[in-house]
Amino acid sequence: MSPSASQNTPSRPTRLRRSVLSVPAINRRALDKLSSLDCDAVIFDLEDSVSPEKKAEARENLRAFFAATPLPGKERIIRINALSSNFGAEDLALVAELEPDAVLLPKVDEPQDVMLVGDRLAEADASENLRIWAMIETPRGILNAASIAEAGRTSGSRLDCLVVGLNDLRKETGVLPQPGRAYLVPWLMQVILAVSAYGLEAIDSVFNDFKDAEAFEAECGQGRSMGFAGKMLIHPSQIEAANRHFGPDAAAIAEAEAIIAAFADPGADALNVVNLGGRMVERLHLVQAERLVHKARLIAQRASGVAAASRTEA
Ligand code: COA
Ligand code: MG
Repeated sequence: MSPSASQNTPSRPTRLRRSVLSVPAINRRALDKLSSLDCDAVIFDLEDSVSPEKKAEARENLRAFFAATPLPGKERIIRINALSSNFGAEDLALVAELEPDAVLLPKVDEPQDVMLVGDRLAEADASENLRIWAMIETPRGILNAASIAEAGRTSGSRLDCLVVGLNDLRKETGVLPQPGRAYLVPWLMQVILAVSAYGLEAIDSVFNDFKDAEAFEAECGQGRSMGFAGKMLIHPSQIEAANRHFGPDAAAIAEAEAIIAAFADPGADALNVVNLGGRMVERLHLVQAERLVHKARLIAQRASGVAAASRTEA
């Protein structure tokens, strides 16, 4: 039997996470906008964008929003406050009640932070489909990224995705914001290495200056080149560029289809390398090509769903 690319593909389902928009759960006007936005995922924030005196109201907003507004095709993630804070336990109880796709843990320093939330969710009988995402945004989080990702893959763990948070990391380390993020790149790549070693995905940090489209484009391009699956966003105006940079373009799709066709040729059955128009292509590229084409299909399906939804609304 010929070796199949899918044998090497991790069992993790392919998900679109090009644009992951954060929304303060206290902001009802912004929540109301979500159905009309073309982001792949939404982070409902109960943490740093909500003041201590508004935490309870923010939780009520989410309860009402989840009851009234399905967001088909979008992953829904609730960012909670640390369990060690005054708010974490109630936030996690809300997560267990609402069962979003994932809970996002802030300021994860070590594997135990993830395991503890996993235990609490199990005690609350939360669905096994409820995943954990972890913010890597502290010096210890960066130093421990590999062990966090590794522990997250042990049986029973729900860890699915690491999200880099550079605002906190800059604050803790004194690294200044700078085009090109030269001093941060080694740490960002450490996170990429950690997720790649353990079959997870990483999302690049937010870009604060949402009026500076040019600098945002540059940072999206850089994040994509580094291997991030997508970018955490703070404003709707950032969605289109993130979708474009982190989604496969037409040339990449055409190339992936050519690779799949080359290996589908009966003559290539026993080959691990083929000549594709003067370029060596290995069977390992077939795995990447299949994943890319699958992503392109998901994007096309989403686009037709969004078009149908806007026709219905009109
Ligand atoms: N999600 C959904 N809608 C949003 C949004 C978001 N993150 N940010 C802004 N909007 C909406 C606004 O409500 C506004 O809607 P309207 O036209 O119906 O009034 C529209 O987009 C334009 O917004 P704008 O006036 O340009 O910005 P703003 O002053 O309302 O908000 C921020 C600017 C930065 C305060 C806001 O974008 C925000 O809170 N972003 C997320 C912050 C966050 O989540 N931080 C934690 C993670 S770092
Ligand atoms: Mg943070």
